[in-house]
Amino acid sequence: MALFTKELSIDLGTNFIRVAEAGEVLIEEPTVAAIVVEEQKMVAWGQEALDMLGRVPESIEVTRPLQNGVIADYEVTEYMLAALLRKVSAPGRIFRPNVMITVPYGVTSVESRAVHEAALQAGSRDVTLIHQPLAASIGVDLPIGTPSGNMILCLGGGATQAAVLAMYGIIAAETLRAGGRAMDDAIVRYARKKYGVIIGNQTAEQIKLRIGAAVPQEDEQAMEIQGQDQISGLPKPVSMTTGEVVEALLEPLDDIVETARKVLEKTPPELVSDIIDRGIAITGGGALLRGIDILLTKELGVPAYLVDNATTCTVEGASMAFSMYPLIRRNLPSV
Ligand SMILES: Nc1ncnc2c1ncn2[C@@H]1O[C@H](COP(=O)(O)OP(=O)(O)OP(=O)(O)O)[C@@H](O)[C@H]1O
Ligand SMILES: [Mg+2]
Repeated sequence: MALFTKELSIDLGTNFIRVAEAGEVLIEEPTVAAIVVEEQKMVAWGQEALDMLGRVPESIEVTRPLQNGVIADYEVTEYMLAALLRKVSAPGRIFRPNVMITVPYGVTSVESRAVHEAALQAGSRDVTLIHQPLAASIGVDLPIGTPSGNMILCLGGGATQAAVLAMYGIIAAETLRAGGRAMDDAIVRYARKKYGVIIGNQTAEQIKLRIGAAVPQEDEQAMEIQGQDQISGLPKPVSMTTGEVVEALLEPLDDIVETARKVLEKTPPELVSDIIDRGIAITGGGALLRGIDILLTKELGVPAYLVDNATTCTVEGASMAFSMYPLIRRNLPSV
């Protein structure tokens, strides 16, 4: 028997898989795998697999095993988790860690069981599930152990979660199965409609990251992109501006605002007044969209602020959750 067992947390995200130990991030890789189709064997994962996208023969498939925060391809998820555990083991020594792994709030029991099972099959000794909004709240140090209300937004690549927490548990929450990817899709649609140009999702994401914003900006930027003419199929350059991205993102951003609004509506008034005092913490990669705090503050009438560790707080909090287990265990999803 091992003298002590490693405790690892895993944030299994649609875009990124992150691993932490003792509150420190060890691994952050895109949730992408390259699979040899015939043998169903994984030949690369993470950034290495992402770099192969669109550059491999048909015999290799580059896939994303998670969609909208949940497992879409069980086998590939298990291969990736096993590869992660091997990577954090000392060379030549396989260990079986205790794993705290995240799931979005509101997933079905079938979906959470799949995560539990995949982590076990990948070589974990013991697996505990934790809801992402709870993990993220711990990771940003919200005072969730008190009877006052705390609100958090998790803006991921495939899911949007809004939650109010108190006494180590979730009081009210909503999950929208759409996130940053839906923003990229909206930019693709906008370019086609306005300019008759087809652009890829990755290009759309680059536009969002480089010049995107949630509200009009004073320093309007522009970005030149190579698209494909919708009719002739020939290359066609277009220039998009920050203002155009703001316009393109109106719909997906409105969906995020509505998700947060629904949660506020079903939160008891005493807790709402705490939230008005403390503000809403915005986390996840989507929190990095310029001006999203301003948009949410304006639309919800409650101050919203961006946290420092927006993309890593969930895995960091899940790691810290090991030592809080007796306090939170009643509020963890069962399998
Ligand atoms: N500066 C930025 N502006 C706008 N969006 C951003 C920025 N940086 C990252 N993103 C977006 O954040 C998303 C990824 O966020 P995150 O890493 O939190 O997702 P995830 O945890 O993998 O997904 P999920 O939690 O939904 O399963 C992507 O859609 C990415 O485009
Ligand atoms: Mg996430």
